[in-house]
Amino acid sequence: MNSNAKWIKCGSEIGEISPDFRKCFSTGKKVVSAKAYVSAIGVYDLFINQKKVGKGYMEPGWTSMEHRVQYQTYDITDMLDEYNEISIIAGKGWGCGEIGYIRLPHNDCSAISVIASIELTYDDGTGESILTDDSWEVYTSEIAFSEIYDGETVDKSAPVVRLGRAYIDNTAKPELIDQVGEFITERERVLPSELIITPKGERVIDFGQNMVGYVELSIKASKGDRIVMSHAEVLDKDGNFYTDNLRGAKNLVTYICSGGEDTFRLRFSFRGFRYIRLDEYPFDEVDIDGFVAVAVYSDIKRTGRFVCGNDKLNRLYSNIIWGQRSNFLDIPTDCPQRDERMGWTGDAEVFCRTAAINYDVEKFFRKWLGDMALEQGENGLIWGVVPLIRDCGERISAAWGDAAVICPWEIYKAYGNLEMLRENYPMMKKWVEYMHSFGEEEFLWAGAYHYGDWLGMDAGYGIYMGATQTDLIATAFFAYSTSLVVKAGKALGEDTSYFEELYKNVRKAFRETFMKDGLPIIYPKYDALSTDRPVKADTQTAISLILRFGLFEENEREGLVGRLVELIKEYDGCMTTGFVGTPHILHALSDNGRADVAYDLLLQEKNPSWLFSVNHGATTIWEHWDSINDEGEMWDVEMNSFNHYAYGSVFDWMFGDMLGIKICDDGAAYTKIEIEPLTDKRIGFAEGAIDSRNGEIAVSWRYVGEKVRYDITIPENTEATLKIKGLAPKTLKGGSYTIVK
Ligand code: BGC
Repeated sequence: MNSNAKWIKCGSEIGEISPDFRKCFSTGKKVVSAKAYVSAIGVYDLFINQKKVGKGYMEPGWTSMEHRVQYQTYDITDMLDEYNEISIIAGKGWGCGEIGYIRLPHNDCSAISVIASIELTYDDGTGESILTDDSWEVYTSEIAFSEIYDGETVDKSAPVVRLGRAYIDNTAKPELIDQVGEFITERERVLPSELIITPKGERVIDFGQNMVGYVELSIKASKGDRIVMSHAEVLDKDGNFYTDNLRGAKNLVTYICSGGEDTFRLRFSFRGFRYIRLDEYPFDEVDIDGFVAVAVYSDIKRTGRFVCGNDKLNRLYSNIIWGQRSNFLDIPTDCPQRDERMGWTGDAEVFCRTAAINYDVEKFFRKWLGDMALEQGENGLIWGVVPLIRDCGERISAAWGDAAVICPWEIYKAYGNLEMLRENYPMMKKWVEYMHSFGEEEFLWAGAYHYGDWLGMDAGYGIYMGATQTDLIATAFFAYSTSLVVKAGKALGEDTSYFEELYKNVRKAFRETFMKDGLPIIYPKYDALSTDRPVKADTQTAISLILRFGLFEENEREGLVGRLVELIKEYDGCMTTGFVGTPHILHALSDNGRADVAYDLLLQEKNPSWLFSVNHGATTIWEHWDSINDEGEMWDVEMNSFNHYAYGSVFDWMFGDMLGIKICDDGAAYTKIEIEPLTDKRIGFAEGAIDSRNGEIAVSWRYVGEKVRYDITIPENTEATLKIKGLAPKTLKGGSYTIVK
């Protein structure tokens, strides 16, 4: 971006209409190269001679606006004529629009600023720059209203009006940085599956898939005719359109016709939906062929695939993929539909390993982690949401803040980029120091207020925080994150002795405080005595963490696993775990000889279980195990998303244990892996692969009578240790192998 380009904006007469900043120029000489650099406080679309430039949607994306904003670079050489018009249409987006459940600030479109430089190189070697300044003109556009939560109005009947010259915006701006993340792009196009007339008489179109993006509509109607669409994820138990779970987000899209053939689309917002209700439509007969749902998310490349002999698990896998598609729109969000859609750190911490199997998410996470580091407090604190939204997500919580360590480590393991790890290492260490310096006990993280085992089932119905004592969870994560800092430091060739010592002390303090006779116990000093929920230590989540984070001695293993299995039996063969315990419980079982029980949980269909939602028609992952219960009732109005990827983290078990593909700590980017498939006759077969940076790794197993046939493909430069029950471990190098056992 040329440093002489000025931020420009328009006057308040623009109201809610998206401004169109325009500049005309003629080239005179032959252009051999032309590049456009563009950014906005808001979101923008760039047009050259009325043609949209590039594949981006809602660029410049979402970064920590207090610190930095990206600009995008486009090659426009082939788009120029002798006389040219540049146009930048901008919406409020994340930079100026209402964001967070506090819904601030209430700006109109005069708050938007844009900046651009067009750099031309002529065939005689000379050059010219066209920069935003007060010679640019402002016009109205067809986008009459746009807010991320509330929706968008596209008015093709309104005249385009010239409002005058742009103003130079001299207010302080965040640092402009070259784009570090992926472009946000339009991806799958989903056709309607049916038109439903609900019992209330509503005209509803079902797209058959919960997703994120917008509905494109092609229609010919009279000038000024309106199509008004509400969006919903589910129908209620009577089959009526249900929007209560969207809370304050109106999600209303209005298309106003020009009188000719129109194709409508959104530009500056996105909806999370499976169904639309036609609140207004100009004809009695609905032509559903005119509608298509367009998925919008970051331009991440698919890397993983999976299929097995159980159709319900295959549906679960599809729901996990759609959950990722729906929540990887520039930053990892909790959910994409209600007045939230924020970068909750805990959700990303839980899901990042799965995310990096499904898609190549290195760049995606690197950008988000960069914002996290910029927003980290002096004392090392990490907020609940990144980018931070003041008064939303400001709680500093175990398992949420640990995203600062767990995400860089998982992303390093998946892609092997030491530079990325080095960039994040200071943040990782500072977060551990935050936990270390908190409160009175040096080696415990105790006495703080957390999110706990969020949505765990063991504290009673309707209570958000599961029963597991939060001091126990916090200190377990303190130990785990410290152990990962040691691993990361070693990978970077750093001296890790300080953190090794710290880890030993935290582990010891954990065991002395939270364990007795090899099982977890309550530390009564803080929240055990002072909350309005039952607080327990003898929980599935507590034991899963102890087993997963290595907080036990060898002679305690059997007792811990035994108790975990008992607790599952006590809960009628189901899990009680929430956000904290769920990603670990299957691993805790199968790592310790009880793959059979892990499979029982995976195949469980009663609530709570993964397949419960599948049986109830889910096409994405639900926020609650029973977002809709057996009676068809909704969990709640306030917190009931049908597109929350967190519990989709089970796929890291399906990939890492069912298929058995695990990256060794010293084998980042799948250069050194273990393959240890855990088969189960109830599933019949499983096969899957990852297109790793090192080449494709594929594993399949299939029951043939009482035997199992394994087919394995390893790329060159990958060393795999194959572990199959009853056979001696075997080292495999690049090639394909078949084993029957
Ligand atoms: C979000 C969660 C998030 C949580 C914090 C919720 O509102 O939707 O996914 O992690 O708050 O506990």
